[in-house]
Amino acid sequence: MSGTFRDVGDGDVDGLVSLWTACGLTRPWNDPRGDIALARRSAEATILVATEAGAVVGSVMVGHEGHRGWMYYLAVAPALRRTGLGRRLVKAAEDWIAARGMAKMHLLIRPENHAVRAFYEALGYGEQPRVLMARWLDGRPLDG
Ligand SMILES: CC(C)(COP(=O)(O)OP(=O)(O)OC[C@H]1O[C@@H](n2cnc3c(N)ncnc32)[C@H](O)[C@@H]1OP(=O)(O)O)[C@@H](O)C(=O)NCCC(=O)NCCS
Repeated sequence: MSGTFRDVGDGDVDGLVSLWTACGLTRPWNDPRGDIALARRSAEATILVATEAGAVVGSVMVGHEGHRGWMYYLAVAPALRRTGLGRRLVKAAEDWIAARGMAKMHLLIRPENHAVRAFYEALGYGEQPRVLMARWLDGRPLDG
């Protein structure tokens, strides 16, 4: 549990995948069930979920690599947007990282995602100019 949120449980997985699909967060090269399983197996990561009447209505994946915190899969059900749930999920993720002794959070957004940029700016996040380098370990070409 973190605040009013709790760690994802077995019974949340189908609802979580539906939420991510409804929020446009799934990508062909990311298997959401695999991503959920990996985060659940890791001692350095979790997925916090918000539920309402048993349904998963919000999520954030949070974790660290021993240096900085990272957030992924921040999602709020479309019907509940602009009610402060996204802000509270980010705060819960920040608290999760701070409780593990780290002082900074990172996240990635697609450059065309202006609404999400405005959301994070409202929460005090800012752009840091860095070049993101990546490589698929099986050698496949990088995708978008
Ligand atoms: C981004 C997202 C999680 C925001 O959740 P939310 O619960 O609606 O956000 P909040 O209600 O906590 O908003 C907090 C503040 O952020 C800003 N904000 C939120 N959504 C915004 C939008 N679409 N456009 C501009 N500003 C926005 C506002 O300042 C807002 O405060 P206000 O409502 O008092 O004006 C939600 O829109 C979502 O799930 N989007 C689709 C998934 C996604 O793209 N996730 C991020 C992946 S990087």
